[in-house]
Amino acid sequence: MPRHLMLCLTLGMALDMATPEEGQFWHITDHHFDPTYWSEMRSCNDKVPVRGIYGDYWCDSPWRLVNDSVAAMAKVKRDVDFIVWTGDNVAHIENQFLNQSLNVGIIEKITDALKSEFPGVPVYGTMGNHDWYPADQFPVQQASLYNATAELWRDWIVDKEQIENFKKGGFYTIKTTKGLRIVGLNTVLYYTADKLTPKLTDPAGQFAWLEKVLQNATNAGEKVVLTAHVPPGIKVPGKVLWFYEQFNTRLLDLVQKYSDVIPGMYFGHDHADGLKLVVKEDGTPGVPMFIAPSVTPWRYKSRTESGAPHNPAIRLVKYDQQTGEALDYIQYYMNLTESNEVNASTWEVAYAASTTYRVSDLTAASVSKVVQQMSTDRNLLYKYIRFNTVLANGNSTVDECDATCRAEYICSFTQHSRDEFNTCVNIQRKGVLIG
Ligand SMILES: *[C@@H]1O[C@H](CO)[C@@H](O)[C@H](O)[C@H]1NC(C)=O
Ligand SMILES: *[C@@H]1O[C@H](CO)[C@@H](O)[C@H](O)[C@H]1NC(C)=O
Ligand SMILES: *[C@@H]1O[C@H](CO)[C@@H](O)[C@H](O)[C@H]1NC(C)=O
Ligand SMILES: *[C@@H]1O[C@H](CO)[C@@H](O)[C@H](O)[C@H]1NC(C)=O
Ligand SMILES: *[C@@H]1O[C@H](CO)[C@@H](O)[C@H](O)[C@H]1NC(C)=O
Ligand SMILES: *[C@@H]1O[C@H](CO)[C@@H](O)[C@H](O)[C@H]1NC(C)=O
Ligand SMILES: *[C@@H]1O[C@H](CO)[C@@H](O)[C@H](O)[C@H]1NC(C)=O
Ligand SMILES: [Zn+2]
Ligand SMILES: [Zn+2]
Repeated sequence: MPRHLMLCLTLGMALDMATPEEGQFWHITDHHFDPTYWSEMRSCNDKVPVRGIYGDYWCDSPWRLVNDSVAAMAKVKRDVDFIVWTGDNVAHIENQFLNQSLNVGIIEKITDALKSEFPGVPVYGTMGNHDWYPADQFPVQQASLYNATAELWRDWIVDKEQIENFKKGGFYTIKTTKGLRIVGLNTVLYYTADKLTPKLTDPAGQFAWLEKVLQNATNAGEKVVLTAHVPPGIKVPGKVLWFYEQFNTRLLDLVQKYSDVIPGMYFGHDHADGLKLVVKEDGTPGVPMFIAPSVTPWRYKSRTESGAPHNPAIRLVKYDQQTGEALDYIQYYMNLTESNEVNASTWEVAYAASTTYRVSDLTAASVSKVVQQMSTDRNLLYKYIRFNTVLANGNSTVDECDATCRAEYICSFTQHSRDEFNTCVNIQRKGVLIG
């Protein structure tokens, strides 16, 4: 080979490596803005919260926190390709204190904040269970709240047919400028808190529609990134399956079947940092699921138990613009205690996924490696558990995690039905106890 040609090839390769079609996008979720934070404190789960200017672990977000999180995103990286926004904008406030226009006003306020800090950047939004009025009760036909949200997001869902889909059931698909297909699903229709859907086989016809989109994408050689509010599978701690069982099975079957065209899925709702993997029927890695932690620091509390405190979080994802595969993500967080103490927000890096989990990217194969490592390397699992609550608890969540707890974390990565999960925990527990 002539020397100059070889040089060209070498240079070409170097150029390829320098520009691996890497893009970035933000994944933000669960802002839960509470307009009554400074007055009636309607979202607060503790009678006398401290109420710092950026928020309180027992309450949903004051506007200052929401505003500051958007400002922090713009400061870290304004020229992203797009923003994935997985919903729950309205605070945990009882229905009697809410109404539809209040909810729409809150969605609009955050929509406007994103538009003003990220002019021209497309935002792929999906609605969360708290965005509906009354909460969780998403219907399977046209409704004025679907219409109102579709109007707010018209600049982003730039396709008449998709606006109509949104008005029918809160779902749509749009292609990025680089040809990557994004599908925004309404998985609240599958959530056990939605009392309008359990008797249906395909709420709003979303499954049939999704299968067509995936089939079309397969034929056209496109890749499809899925995003939605409520994730399928089991959440630990708590061992919660959010979905009605039949919808969990149906969605995961579809994802398995079309795993070759789905490079990744992005969810919110858990208010905790989570990672899962859909494994193909033949046992090989299928599709990674990335669950981003919330902006709100709100702690769950019932009569018998309460959730751990967690810090406000925003996530920057690095991805391949063509294949849609995640290459890495950087998790940013606000140390709420410290920010309140000094009256200034401190958004810092909690961790970079590839470095922490010792992988070169976040493809299904790499996430599979991460999951395997966590099953055998207890310290790595402990890191995951600390990140789960966004570094708010020192080592206390780790110290409280016994063999059963560790088995549950490990099984939650790949076992997404209740039966598979329980079987896995029984097997894992023995191994973990010996190990
Ligand atoms: C909705 O609730 C807000 C806050 O309580 C109230 O100011 C407003 O009047 C209500 N709107 C309607 C249409 O009931
Ligand atoms: C955030 O607050 C600042 C200062 O009050 C204000 O200038 C800015 O417009 C707000 N940004 C958003 C997105 O609301
Ligand atoms: C929603 O918008 C469509 C037009 O796109 C209209 O035909 C329909 O009546 C509206 N539905 C409600 C409930 O407002
Ligand atoms: C699938 O592709 C066909 C042909 O291009 C199109 O008419 C149809 O709307 C697509 N279906 C979906 C659900 O996107
Ligand atoms: C957050 O700030 C508090 C108070 O300054 C400090 O005790 C804590 O260690 C900090 N947390 C992290 C993860 O840095
Ligand atoms: C922080 O701000 C609050 C409310 O504005 C004020 O009461 C407090 O003294 C301030 N603390 C510091 C350290 O500046
Ligand atoms: C938690 O434990 C890890 C590993 O044992 C240790 O490196 C770290 O300093 C501990 N962190 C805190 C906040 O105690
Ligand atoms: Zn939420
Ligand atoms: Zn939710």
